[in-house]
Amino acid sequence: MRLSKIGALLVFFMMSCSLVVNAQKDIESRVNDLLSKMTLDEKIGQLNQITGPADEEIKKGIQRAMIGSVLNVTDAKSVNELQRIATEETRLKIPLIIARDVIHGFKTIFPIPLGQAASWNPQVVEDGARVAAIESTAAGIRWTFAPMIDVTRDPRWGRIAESYGEDPFLTSVMGVAAIKGFQGDDLSKPSSLAACAKHFAGYGWSEGGRDYNTTWIPETQLRDVVLPPFEAAVKANAATFMCSFNDISGIPSSGNAYLNNTILRKEWGYDGVLVSDWGSIMQMINQGFSENLKDAASKAMLAGVNMDMMSGAYVTHLKELVESNIVPIEIVNQAVRNILRLKFRLGLFDNPYTKEQDNMPFYLPGSLEKAKNAAAESAILLKNSNQILPLSSSKLKSVAVIGPLSDSGMDQIGTWCFDGEPEHSVTPLNALRQDYGKQLNIIAEKGLAYSRDNSPEGIQRAVAAALKSDVVLLFVGEEAVISGEARCRADINLPGAQTELVSALKNTGKPVVMVVMAGRPLTIGKEISEADAVIYAFHGGTMAGPALADLIFGKIVPSGKLPVTMPRMVGQIPIYYSAPKIGRPARDITLIDDIPVGALQTSLGFTSYYLDAGDGSLYPFGYGLSYSTFSYSDVKLSSETISEGESLTVECTITNTGKYDASEVIQLYVGDRVGSLIRPEKEMKDFKKIFFKAGESKNVKFTLTADKLAFWNNKIQKKTEPGAFDVWVATDSRSGKSVVLTLR
Ligand code: GLC
Repeated sequence: MRLSKIGALLVFFMMSCSLVVNAQKDIESRVNDLLSKMTLDEKIGQLNQITGPADEEIKKGIQRAMIGSVLNVTDAKSVNELQRIATEETRLKIPLIIARDVIHGFKTIFPIPLGQAASWNPQVVEDGARVAAIESTAAGIRWTFAPMIDVTRDPRWGRIAESYGEDPFLTSVMGVAAIKGFQGDDLSKPSSLAACAKHFAGYGWSEGGRDYNTTWIPETQLRDVVLPPFEAAVKANAATFMCSFNDISGIPSSGNAYLNNTILRKEWGYDGVLVSDWGSIMQMINQGFSENLKDAASKAMLAGVNMDMMSGAYVTHLKELVESNIVPIEIVNQAVRNILRLKFRLGLFDNPYTKEQDNMPFYLPGSLEKAKNAAAESAILLKNSNQILPLSSSKLKSVAVIGPLSDSGMDQIGTWCFDGEPEHSVTPLNALRQDYGKQLNIIAEKGLAYSRDNSPEGIQRAVAAALKSDVVLLFVGEEAVISGEARCRADINLPGAQTELVSALKNTGKPVVMVVMAGRPLTIGKEISEADAVIYAFHGGTMAGPALADLIFGKIVPSGKLPVTMPRMVGQIPIYYSAPKIGRPARDITLIDDIPVGALQTSLGFTSYYLDAGDGSLYPFGYGLSYSTFSYSDVKLSSETISEGESLTVECTITNTGKYDASEVIQLYVGDRVGSLIRPEKEMKDFKKIFFKAGESKNVKFTLTADKLAFWNNKIQKKTEPGAFDVWVATDSRSGKSVVLTLR
């Protein structure tokens, strides 16, 4: 009898499941078999990670089986030499795992992660990670320290550039997409790159937005906001995790047994590798959490940190700690198992070597096209007075291309791209010349040579160029070097004399299209008011130029939305859309310059706002314009009530009421009106990026399940509580009319 099609599929499915289970069983038995042969020294060697270059000292350490992983060696020849020593000159022939920070590209650089988040398109993130994996694994790298999934609400913090912004749901979706892209469908394939969910956890809460600073995070907020992206990473099979430098309420993550053993291992069942951050074990001495390196080694080991990046703590002290029964051997064994398992999963035992080739898969046309698409989808149209954009080349004669970011291949690729090559960047000026140089007179004048330049002469040259043009395309922002790790800013204005440059160009009377390329939101309300149109492009990567040229001239319609709130002033920070309700929300605002002289203290209201900044952000989370416009119908719920375990449908009809085909990011928010803890005004629970032809309407549906209304209460239980909820379907976190849903 012929098996039915379904039957055949069922058999295939069961066979493939059993293959997976057997493969895992096979790996576990190979791990335990190898572990049983290892000496304590060989075990400790596996827990040690050292940075390149591949010099004689490292080779000796590998030969003596004292190194399990090497980072920052980035050519296949050197990697193969190290692997040869590890797999041919040591007793047990255990291969190394080679790591590198491949954060938003290896050679083809994609927008910084904050920019990629602004695309609200997980496919953009997955594509970028896949390109990065193909390029970096060809150089012998099999482990990247990405995605960084630290939620943060503080643009003073330089590492906001590496994050996916302020929202845990958006961060979770993008983090999972990155993991999928890096690791591919089979970790053992040579083009698969082990991902690393970092920094576990709470790094984005660094007090004052100052890097490596302390954090105070109540467990309810840790659970509700900080941890969800990491739990999503576990479910997405992230191969590794990395500790964060910071403490959480007094306990450094590298010594936090509750975080690493109870939550990560016991609650979430994680079986991957937890690596320290660079020297983070040793830094517990500076934090006053450890007396000395031996104490730090003990605390880190007991807190479940499997691999020591660059502290030298385990190779120096762990043997003595085990032999004196301070650290049980089983904890060491478990750490070694996790590392061996990773190496088996990566196929390194069967194939430790990388093909050495002359034609490396760098900057492939398909990769560059994906990078350009990513840069285009990551750009946010903040302002477009009188629909000045898109420009029409047929209606222009000359265009002035001005600003320190107009032609800086180094700065547009942004922070954290050690292997990116600025000479491969296509800058806005290059792209505009390539695409429009024949039909337009393109007048190039940077004005300011770099973002921190204060020279007034440059501004005069820029004004002169502007006066000869029909329109000014002004590219401002931050140099890459003032963004990223340890690059925090107490003021987040445009650096240098860029503010003066914007005003001077405004005063020429010429239309000004301003493009901002930065690693963070900047407080640029004044500059935005002076420009006619503003595109916020973050640091857009290798292909930022062609993407921006296409956006400015309308070949591509902007679709980016803010993944993070833009403050009016730095003093408002932290400012974020999902803020808790307060007793006296802002009302009857009187700004400082409007207060009558001699006014009495009691003459002004008593509600929550700043006299010099008012209330609210410059632009809210989820905000972004299009060349088209969209209308939203009233929201409809399939039921006005919901109980535990139930779900309902949230519907809204969206129409593209403009004349351009365009994509819109439709966002679903929920606000819990009353709870046993004060609840946020609203929280995003889902989003969809949907393409509409001009004039097209679509009925958009979200499924809302009751468990999405749950939160962590002060008994540290995740529970729903009956009551009324507001539900929005909106174009950003500040818009829309809500409907009421009752949780029974
Ligand atoms: C750095 C960073 C971490 C990075 C590591 C290796 O200090 O905090 O994100 O992966 O060291 O470069």
